Amino acid sequence: MRLGPSILAGAAALFALVAALDAEMTDLIAEAGGALGACEGYQVTSVNKGKWSLEANLDMIGSGCGVYGPDIPKLKLLVEYQTDSRLHVVIQDREGLRYQVPEEIFPRPQSPPPDSDADSLLSFTYKTNPFSFRVLRKDTGEVLFDTSGTTLVFERQYLRLKTWLPPNPNLYGLGEHTDPFRLFNKNYVRTFWARDSGAVPYRTNLYGSHPIYFEHRQTGTHGVLLLSSNGMDVKIDQDGSGLHYLEYNIIGGIFDFYFLAGPGPIDVAKQYAELAGTPALVPYWSLGFQQCRFGYQDWFHVAEVAYNYSVAGIPLEVVWSDIDYMDFRRTFSLDPKRFPISCMQKLTKYLHDRQQRYIMMVDPAIAEYDYRPYNRGIEMGVFVKNSSSLPFRGVVWPGVTVWPDWFHKNTSAYWTERFHEMFSPKSGVDIDGAWIDMNEPASFCSYPCVDPDGDAKRQGMPPRPPPERQPPRKIPGFPENVDEDEEDQITLGSLTPYDPEADSLFNTDKKYKIDHTGDDLLSPPYKIRNRSPSGALSHRTINTDLQHANGLWHYDMHNIYGTTMSLYTRNALLSRRPGQRPFVVTRSTFAGAGRYVAKWLGDNVSRWDHYRASIAGMLNFASVFQVPMVGSDVCGFLGNTNEKLCARWATLGAFMPFYRNHADLGTRPQEFYQWPLVTSAAKYAISVRYRLLDYFYTAMYKQSIDGTPAINPMWYLYPHDKQAPGVGLQYFFGDCVLVSPVADADSKDVSIYLPEDVFYEFETQKRVQGNAEWQRLTGVPFDRIPLHVRGGCIVPLRTESANTTTELRKKNFELFVAPGVDGTAQGSLYLDDGISLDGGPMKAHVEWEYSNGKLKTSAVDGMVGLAEMGFEVEKVTVLGGESGGWDSDEL
Ligand code: NOJ
Repeated sequence: MRLGPSILAGAAALFALVAALDAEMTDLIAEAGGALGACEGYQVTSVNKGKWSLEANLDMIGSGCGVYGPDIPKLKLLVEYQTDSRLHVVIQDREGLRYQVPEEIFPRPQSPPPDSDADSLLSFTYKTNPFSFRVLRKDTGEVLFDTSGTTLVFERQYLRLKTWLPPNPNLYGLGEHTDPFRLFNKNYVRTFWARDSGAVPYRTNLYGSHPIYFEHRQTGTHGVLLLSSNGMDVKIDQDGSGLHYLEYNIIGGIFDFYFLAGPGPIDVAKQYAELAGTPALVPYWSLGFQQCRFGYQDWFHVAEVAYNYSVAGIPLEVVWSDIDYMDFRRTFSLDPKRFPISCMQKLTKYLHDRQQRYIMMVDPAIAEYDYRPYNRGIEMGVFVKNSSSLPFRGVVWPGVTVWPDWFHKNTSAYWTERFHEMFSPKSGVDIDGAWIDMNEPASFCSYPCVDPDGDAKRQGMPPRPPPERQPPRKIPGFPENVDEDEEDQITLGSLTPYDPEADSLFNTDKKYKIDHTGDDLLSPPYKIRNRSPSGALSHRTINTDLQHANGLWHYDMHNIYGTTMSLYTRNALLSRRPGQRPFVVTRSTFAGAGRYVAKWLGDNVSRWDHYRASIAGMLNFASVFQVPMVGSDVCGFLGNTNEKLCARWATLGAFMPFYRNHADLGTRPQEFYQWPLVTSAAKYAISVRYRLLDYFYTAMYKQSIDGTPAINPMWYLYPHDKQAPGVGLQYFFGDCVLVSPVADADSKDVSIYLPEDVFYEFETQKRVQGNAEWQRLTGVPFDRIPLHVRGGCIVPLRTESANTTTELRKKNFELFVAPGVDGTAQGSLYLDDGISLDGGPMKAHVEWEYSNGKLKTSAVDGMVGLAEMGFEVEKVTVLGGESGGWDSDEL
């Protein structure tokens, strides 16, 4: 809802309250000692109040701090009530010369139009001297954000702002990390600096940056986004007197805050989606099971894996190729011996004929080598340049590399052209999706990277390709093996017409003027806790003092490189198959990335603790960051997995949105058919997942419309339950199916928490009364996962599973009706063509309501019912044995 006259008047009244509230404010705490202790902060020197906004000048008190360089003496405060539930607060330099996240990457919501009748749930109050502010819940006066008694520091390369938190706060978000979903609230630092973080260590900065947190209280949930892509440390701790606080320490940019009122957790999730953008709906097929590994060493190996899955009777929807397919690991090339184009085309045809899909990896770094992707990049001028206007050189898999500058006006065309040429359905490899990696961006060259050639050599990049293999046996139905005459690589690029002139993703001619005069962009005075030797920002990435073509510096934009690549890659796929939903899976993400891209959780280790950590990773991305298509490397990536761990992970992965088994080079094979126990786990879990796939697709659809989470932590659905905020290993798949994985190594037992509500065991349909206590489930076989249906839900299922999602989509439906405490239940189902951007010409959206033993069906406005789509509900089962089922005729 937008703001209207009443909120505008309301806002004016709130600002008028300021003086009264100022008087109430007490200085809660003295500043820490040391240099920062001398800082006096800023005072408000003039105020301009609009009806729904406020602008004020903030002037530095005294001579400033100068702890991490010069202070900015003149600041500007901007406050705007943007909707009934969103408040925008900006503190920036008065001249507006400092970096802000570009609109192209994070489009800002419009200012409120004057014709709405909404009211604001939040109020903003401030103290003038020294300046501090609070954000409150308007109806109760509860303080949500409070900088009182702390000193604002705003220096050229160091910004600090601190807010007080309630005792033992429930905080979530602030990723990417592998720490518990409910964040530590003592002695904890979350660092934001995109990093190639192999083995995803705890308490470190990882691949992505999402500076949003949700804070949950029994009285309500709110969200705070600090829209900044600058490097930062967010410190969460207690002071000497035990008060909890959260403190931003940022090395550039401005304070650009958005406060989201909730008051329920799902409200905050939706409000964040409204701000950051709702996630792109993925193609239906991408919810199928997928197999990958680093080390499928030739085209035959890939085909063989697909074939082995079919022999084992385990459904496989997508098979992937890692960098193995590349010629000496050069992006946009094919190894002519091991992955010749002729065989790649046969491979994709083989897969497509079997209703399977193929995805290949694309790295951003382009080899410095005489081949078309490099030569075109030079011609088009698209690589990131150093101060001598020469491409900046680093090291990745193929040896010395350069990187696309996403903010050069030709880069969109350059990137799309690469996809047209390499992945042309006619003359290239007809992929179905793209996997983008190393886009932090990662480099193997250690800072200061003075000798990339030597560095590449020392690290053995590119490694010698593995020997050619003789196919061990023929694959039935697979075309004949390599034809010697066809072994030469087709000159990729010569065959597909593509007009780069016509391609412009957005107005890349825009030039920014950011004042970094005198700043140290390589080694700023405040060292964020980037996990690198001596914390160097440019360690194993590109140098932070490089300037992008639009005038912005890598120092400020580092954290958005991966998301910009995601946007360009989505665009490139879209131009290959216009009108069809692209499927792009990335490693590095920034706030709002869900609009373009899916995310896998990176290089975990084949260990039980990483199996557990994958749950928090998924909850963060799906439920907080609005990147719902997320999953971990099932069975574990680094190191050898084992049968029990892989079996459990096969069942857990089946209840995460993105379900892909992936392993590192040199590790033991871990396809699901490698062990009988894992085969059994996978068959069971995939069959349950597939039967539930339309239920889950409906949840993904809803999230794509308004941000309603498709994956729910326990406290989202039970916000008033006192224990739910701490439940980190159970969650809801959709909003009805509770997943309670066995979490401990080699164990068959698990303690599960059931809030006060009715649940039904998925397997036995038995009713279980939750009583807000932990219960011990024992003897859970390694090939099973405990699932419960929440009372009050109607869950649609396909009547049976299938080998591929194409076959699955032909099956009919049945319903599980799970009466709630009051005996009623509700559910819905959305169906479309599964692939078109707009869902295709015919879409069904059905809602069911159950009460007093009767089931009512209705179609959502503008959408058809199931019958029009050629389906029927064959069976209805009321769980808990309360009554029998119905025939579809009776419905
Ligand atoms: C790093 C990625 O995280 C991993 O998944 C991939 O297998 C390797 N790069 C090789 O491309």
